[in-house]
Amino acid sequence: MAETILSIAYEHPDSAQRSCSLAHAWARRPHEPEAGEKVRLIARIKQLLKEQDALLVAHYYVHADLQDLAEQTGGIVSDSLDMANFGHRHSATTIVVAGVRFMGETAKILNPEKRVLMPDIDAECSLDLGCPADEFAAFCDAHPDRTVVVYANTSAAVKARADWMVTSSIALPVVKHLKEQGRKILWAPDRHLGDYVREQTGADMLLWQGSCIVHDEYKARELAELKARHPEARVLVHPESPRAVIQLADAVGSTTQLIKAAQSSTAKEFIVATDNGILHKMRTLCPDKVFLEAPTAGVGANCTSCSHCPWMAMNGLRNLAEVLETGKNEIHVDPAIIPRAVLPIQRMLDFAKQINLPARGIGNV
Ligand code: 13P
Ligand code: SF4
Repeated sequence: MAETILSIAYEHPDSAQRSCSLAHAWARRPHEPEAGEKVRLIARIKQLLKEQDALLVAHYYVHADLQDLAEQTGGIVSDSLDMANFGHRHSATTIVVAGVRFMGETAKILNPEKRVLMPDIDAECSLDLGCPADEFAAFCDAHPDRTVVVYANTSAAVKARADWMVTSSIALPVVKHLKEQGRKILWAPDRHLGDYVREQTGADMLLWQGSCIVHDEYKARELAELKARHPEARVLVHPESPRAVIQLADAVGSTTQLIKAAQSSTAKEFIVATDNGILHKMRTLCPDKVFLEAPTAGVGANCTSCSHCPWMAMNGLRNLAEVLETGKNEIHVDPAIIPRAVLPIQRMLDFAKQINLPARGIGNV
């Protein structure tokens, strides 16, 4: 059966005018293999990973089959910081990244000598798309007095312009550290995460106006109504969500951190405002607890308001098997950029070690 192609609107900030305009991207959604094919594909992928000394590193938002496969084959399923760290420390000569392109690029920047493959190389991210390197460089040039902190969800060229890279799990301690050094910050690209970090740390932060098309869709009024109908439920929110949604949260944090919050809480019911791919891990680890998706329907909702990243959904068993068979979809990063782009990433990894944050589950909750 042919794949479905989705058209996706995302905001492209005009850095000169500090406003946003709509741009369009696309995603191809693979069709689910039927049960017999699934079993054959899983067995074949396991064999290929072994034969090729390859490590599968998956994000919590990808299909449950890929998450399980990563763990069953000695790989990892985790947040973007752990994914980078784990692939970097592992001896495998090939890293297969089931996630979106910035994750594959980060793996390549940290491991230029390794082969990095992705099931679908066109898996984008609206934050990355909404922060083109040339426009971002102009924004930085206009504010030379500021320390440049970029989110992991950016291209290699944008990282090469930054002083620090952060993920949602380490953004608060890094910005707090910079504030203590008296630094003023230029932050990109996610405006909601930037706003949250600014509010939590009191740092002087100038924000690029990007957003995540998935988290931007959570609706505060509808969430408050759902909360009223489930008064015992705890609300778990990823900080890429709008401020009004974060204000209703009992816990705010990276994907790993939200899972940990669900595990450690005595509550039996949770409302989750992040991509619904995460529910697989939450339900596996907490089988006696109930997880509800935070509402995306309401004023302004559209056909992609489904709580699932269309680009994470591009990762499937068929294209994973195909890249391992053929070696196609290898990630290449311009070798001229790598020595500069690795600096803000390595600075983050060193800082995580220095402040003794655990290799897994670094977070803000
Ligand atoms: P985490 O680093 O929390 O996994 O977030 C990555 C991401 O893309 C969230 O949308
Ligand atoms: Fe990017 Fe949002 Fe998808 Fe994460 S969920 S990869 S931030 S578009």
